[in-house]
Amino acid sequence: MTHAQCLDASSPGAIDVAVALLRDGKLVALPTETVYGLAARADDGAALARIFAAKGRPSINPLIVHVASADGAERLARLTPLARKLMAAFWPGPLTLVLDRLADAGVHDLACAGLDTIAVRAPAHPVAQAVIAAVGAPLAAPSANRSGGLSPTRARDVLDDLGDRIDAVLDAGDCAHGVESTVVDARGGAPVILRPGGLTREALAACVGPIETAHTHVQSAHTQSVQAPISPGQLLAHYAPRRARVVLDVALGGGEFERPIAHLGFGPGAYATLNLSPSGNLVEAASRLFAYLRILDSAGYRTITVAPIPRAGLGEAIGDRLARAACPAPLAPRCPAPISPTDQIET
Ligand code: TXA
Ligand code: MG
Repeated sequence: MTHAQCLDASSPGAIDVAVALLRDGKLVALPTETVYGLAARADDGAALARIFAAKGRPSINPLIVHVASADGAERLARLTPLARKLMAAFWPGPLTLVLDRLADAGVHDLACAGLDTIAVRAPAHPVAQAVIAAVGAPLAAPSANRSGGLSPTRARDVLDDLGDRIDAVLDAGDCAHGVESTVVDARGGAPVILRPGGLTREALAACVGPIETAHTHVQSAHTQSVQAPISPGQLLAHYAPRRARVVLDVALGGGEFERPIAHLGFGPGAYATLNLSPSGNLVEAASRLFAYLRILDSAGYRTITVAPIPRAGLGEAIGDRLARAACPAPLAPRCPAPISPTDQIET
């Protein structure tokens, strides 16, 4: 394939071009408020197969299906009272709900990796909203990076990773949140966090009370049949820079590391090659996390040490991504145990 078209979302006609490509079964990377997503019609098996191929994504890992609003979700999934409450409070926004899939949802099996459940999200980004509304079909969209790598928060990241494998990217500048949506199993009476993300546990709890987290590592390998809730993507090695290794919780008192070590700082004071937030602001840190890891990786540093980052609020999602970035592929023992031989696919 030739190189992807880069469409400036603010120029007249760009959204129309993206919509026409998507309607025609092509792959278009779209900005969302979290990260750029690689979109295709969720009802088009051939287009979905190209998403998996472009990303090098294991076919056991289902995709999030993007809709404009709760009405769109209603046509795809059985909405529980809990799901309705969460949608009313947080949609559109960085919250993905895992629900039972309706038999007549019209979504191709590949999008859901053959599961009876479906993950649905209504993104808040106005460009994503405009595209979904105009295509008139739900859009499956994983993060627009190579599988196992860092998610893209800028159009140039998408082009670096997938430029020769997709049809277009709609460039709307940097993503505001910078970490992916929070994935919540909302099939029961109480929510279970399957992946921490841009919507904090505290915000969820303020709406619906205390929240459980699915601890994938308690799944005993090979012996147990897999019981949902589980988010297949959480079992795979993830978020690794291409070359550099990531070392966590390194506090520097001062002085400078020499190349090839870079220090990713957080908060005031200490030396850092780049600082996620000199003022210690977790929202700012989340928005810069993937871009700064990419910058340090492509600058040639062999090791990236990362300052300790508080775990409250968005710090939970930042810590989750960093722990996975520091987890060497194939899965190391300290990472969640694989649940079946196919999960050991190196991503
Ligand atoms: O912010 C986001 O969520 C971005 C933007 C583009 O919307 N998307 C994103 O997609 O992060 P992806 O494919 O990189 O991550 C989706 C996660 C994976 O961990 C996947 O396993 C999980 O959602 N997932 C998808 N469908 C699921 C299902 N039916 N049950 C459980 N987990 C599911
Ligand atoms: Mg992803």
